[in-house]
Order: sequence, then structure tokens, then C-alpha cells
Amino acid sequence: MNYQKVLDEIAVELDASEAQGKVASYIPELAKVDPDKFGMYLQDASGNHAQFGDSEEKFSIQSISKVFTLGMAMRLKGDDLWKRVNVEPSGNPFNSLMQLEYEKGIPRNPFINAGALVISDILVEHFEEPKYELLKMLRRITGTVNIHFDEEVAASEMQTGYRNVALINYLKSLGNIRCNIDKVLDFYFHQCSITMTCSELAKSFMVFVNNGKLMNSDTRILPERTVRRINAMMQTCGFYDESGEFSFQVGLPGKSGVGGGIVAVNPNLYSVAVWSPKLNEKGNSELGMRALEKLTTLTETSVF
Ligand code: DON
Repeated sequence: MNYQKVLDEIAVELDASEAQGKVASYIPELAKVDPDKFGMYLQDASGNHAQFGDSEEKFSIQSISKVFTLGMAMRLKGDDLWKRVNVEPSGNPFNSLMQLEYEKGIPRNPFINAGALVISDILVEHFEEPKYELLKMLRRITGTVNIHFDEEVAASEMQTGYRNVALINYLKSLGNIRCNIDKVLDFYFHQCSITMTCSELAKSFMVFVNNGKLMNSDTRILPERTVRRINAMMQTCGFYDESGEFSFQVGLPGKSGVGGGIVAVNPNLYSVAVWSPKLNEKGNSELGMRALEKLTTLTETSVF
């Protein structure tokens, strides 16, 4: 398959200046990004890649980080993890408080904010230096030491993340947060602030293409069963209350972030990352979704 030809076609057909939606502004630092940025990078299982646009520029990965922290928590806790977080699509916005109340503090899944906060609590409880452990793991799977937190974005969210403060307090009152709230929020806001390029994201997600092994290597990072389960959760919950629409249009397991990034995988075939900062009403990159829809249509490679 000549993926570069397909990406060239997508780049010609989609014009970044015509992207619909708005750049996330509830985290003030994120509002500073150029709304017309647009890049895409595809890494295939045979070691080839294709790309266009701003695919080598760093951006805030935000909720995409939740896939990495989930992998770390599953490795640590095994099936005990599912006592504290469920695996069902939420059908609600990523920062909703409502569902948490009537489901008694067990978040619907690890990708909504409530679920990701429980995962953060598990990592903060287990590791002495959880932020360092996260960066170490990311540097290993991406193959570069150049992976960092954006301290300005983390501080910006620390100042304005009122809903996350509400969620974590509520979780704590129901007994589903064990550590100090400030420590868990500090970890959570830092994980969301990590900056990566489309190229780095696509390479790091090769773990989910290669059944748990590092790109171009036999080194196992996650058990096969864990990878299958994470891919299932990305398929059903990766886009919050737009997960059905993403499955319908694109047909790949994936994860979005309010920085405008989306990563999707086709197990055994390829991993692909796209970045366009303008978000639709559900908080997912509008142009990014269209680009991925074109990719799976032109290549006839959805998982269905
Ligand atoms: O907690 C938040 O609201 C952000 N740090 C991350 C949200 C996010 O990326 C949701 N994804 N589309």
C-alpha cells in the first residue's frame, strides 16, 4: 500500500483554513495555538511512514495521555483495576459530573476525566516519582528522550481546572481516591500537558499495532491481552459521546485530546496521528476526524 500517495490526496482535498469548530479555550494556555495547524503521520508495521503538513511540530496531547496511563495502571493492578473503574461508553461529555453521582463514584471508563483521575491516583500511590515514570515509559516507546511536560499548560490548567477539582473531591468523598488530592491533580494536569508531534504519537502507538511490542523490536511492553482490551476501550470510549460517530465514520480504535490531536490504530497494519486544533462540540478535532475518515475510505482499511 502506498500510504504517502493517500496522505498526499488527503492534504490536497482538506484545507486547514476551512476547518470547522473552535480551539479549546477553557485551558487559557491552549487558546494560544495557531488554529490553522494541520499535520498527519502514518507509521506502518513494515517500518515505512507517510506524512504531510505540521507532522513534526509539538502540541499538547491532553487526553491522549490517558491511553498511556491506563496501560501503566493495567500492568500494575491486573483485573483488580476494574473494581474502581468501569469499561462502558459514557454517552456523556468527558468532564461530566452527573453520571458519577448516580453510579456512586465508579467512573464509566478510564478515558473520561473521572476515570483518568482514578488511574492517576493509582499511579501516584504506587510510584515515588510518577511523573518521571510516565516520561520514562513514553521516551522508551517513542524512541526519543525529547518528551517533556509543558509547565505553562500544566499551570494554566491547575489555575482553571474547576471541574476536575470538583470531580476529584466527589470521587474522594465516595472513597475512590486514596492519595492527597493536590498530588493527584498535579500528576493529572502534567500528564495532559505533555507535548508530542504526530510522528512521535504514531510511533508510540505502534505498541497497540504490534500486540504489545515496541516498534521494530521483540521487546514486549504490554501483554497481548492488555493491548486487545485497550484497543477495545479506544473503540468504544475513545471519543466520549462521539465514540459511536467515530466508529461509524472512521472505523478504527483511537483517542482524541482537546489539543486537537487524534491517534488511531489498525492492529497489525498501521498507527496514524493527526493534528488540527479546531474542535467540534464534543471536543474532538473536526478536521482530524475528516482526515481519518478519508484515510480509511481511500485505503479500505477500517477494522470492520
Ligand atoms: O482535563 C481536561 O479537561 C483536559 N486536561 C483534557 C481533556 C481532553 O483532552 C478531552 N478530550 N477530548
